[in-house]
Amino acid sequence: MKRRDFLKTSLAGAALMGGGGALFAGGASPITHPLKVQPAKYGLMPGKITEGMISTFADAPPPVLRLKQGVPAILPVENAMEEYTAMHWHGLRIPNAMDGVPYLTQFPIGPGETFQYEFTPPDAGTYWYHPHCMTMTQMALGLTGVMVVEEAEDPGFDSEEVLNLRDFRLNDDGQFIDLYTGRGAARGGTHGTVMAVNWQDVQRSDHQAGSLVRLRVAATDTTRIYKLYFEGAEGKIIAWDGHPVDYPVPYPISPDAPLLLSPGQRMDVALRMPSTEGQDVKLMARVPGGTREMAVLRAVGADAGRDLAEIAPLPRNPLAEPDLSNPRVEEFVFGWSPEGDLPNNGLCGTLGYTFWSINRKPWAGDAAKGVGPLATLNMGETVVLRLRNESPNLHPIHLHGLTFRPIRSNKRAVIPNMTDTALLLKDEVLDIALVADNPGNWAFHCHVIEHQKTGLAGYIEVV
Ligand code: C2O
Ligand code: CU
Ligand code: CU
Repeated sequence: MKRRDFLKTSLAGAALMGGGGALFAGGASPITHPLKVQPAKYGLMPGKITEGMISTFADAPPPVLRLKQGVPAILPVENAMEEYTAMHWHGLRIPNAMDGVPYLTQFPIGPGETFQYEFTPPDAGTYWYHPHCMTMTQMALGLTGVMVVEEAEDPGFDSEEVLNLRDFRLNDDGQFIDLYTGRGAARGGTHGTVMAVNWQDVQRSDHQAGSLVRLRVAATDTTRIYKLYFEGAEGKIIAWDGHPVDYPVPYPISPDAPLLLSPGQRMDVALRMPSTEGQDVKLMARVPGGTREMAVLRAVGADAGRDLAEIAPLPRNPLAEPDLSNPRVEEFVFGWSPEGDLPNNGLCGTLGYTFWSINRKPWAGDAAKGVGPLATLNMGETVVLRLRNESPNLHPIHLHGLTFRPIRSNKRAVIPNMTDTALLLKDEVLDIALVADNPGNWAFHCHVIEHQKTGLAGYIEVV
């Protein structure tokens, strides 16, 4: 695709929306968050400065972007680096031209250029953003931020904590080492050496005793599947991957039965702080050889005396319900790549080889060489996507622009909550159902970024 085609598309878009003021006539005024992609320095390890990272604000983790359901958002992304980029808003059901996938929905943003993303988020919930160009390096270097879309009505929590969980691959001096390895890309992905929460070892915060806290947890790592559980408080999972849960998700209180939160996934948890001052609530992770604190919330002050039952279920997002009476089934096989090396043929980087494919077609996810749509869905139809894992590795499979329900598996009882990212287990066949209600070319890939960049990617077209 050529740059001028994208220009034409965005000009047409602007004309459709009536331009400037007319776009928002009668509605709420837009929320604007300028983002600048640039080098940054971080204090990830005590006494050590980590160089060469990329952030939206210099020398700080990417900010939590707060938008409002139904209120237009304007997000100018300025590229202040020497390489190309493009920003993707993970989980948001927005027009295809704003989805941030190079060559598929826009031309990559060049050094010194700014691309203005404009959309109105239809759904409330916890989402996130990351580049979809040079995805492996830019994400590994720190460009993964959380996006909160607030409900139109305040659900009534006393406070909120946002936890951005991810790793960094650093040496003892706090400097980056190889961001990925061929060995990792061919297997389960390359893990970081330093686990972090909001760019810290452990996130610590104070909350009033007996108050109600909303915890928004996002797994933005390129590889790690988190095994999470809580200690010290009553709680309830209220939303999963952005959307209020229709089917209960067990609140995990034991390292033996943790919740799996895989790359790209989010959960919203309602917690009731202990009534006694000084008591802690902990978000814990199971890690090789033991467990680890991720976040510690301390109860302070007098007992607020609140009850979890005071929080009504979150209002449902306006999602279309799949009609399962007679759906068409489309099968996708996730497995080895027939191709091997992949030339570096675009502005968004490839790792140079492929190990993976969808239906035997490898695509480097954000490379120029397209493979054509893996499937064509008609607007409004319900389709079951049958995801067949032919590999011994786990794959968090993510679909842009559409929301789906996992409905059955040959391996386990699935919890059929609406989502945009589903973890596919070893040898699993997982059926997911969706209504194709958003036109465009939607990227469909594994969110272990080394898998995505070595072939486990493609796109689905909705016409
Ligand atoms: Cu979170 Cu295609 O991305
Ligand atoms: Cu996405
Ligand atoms: Cu994968």
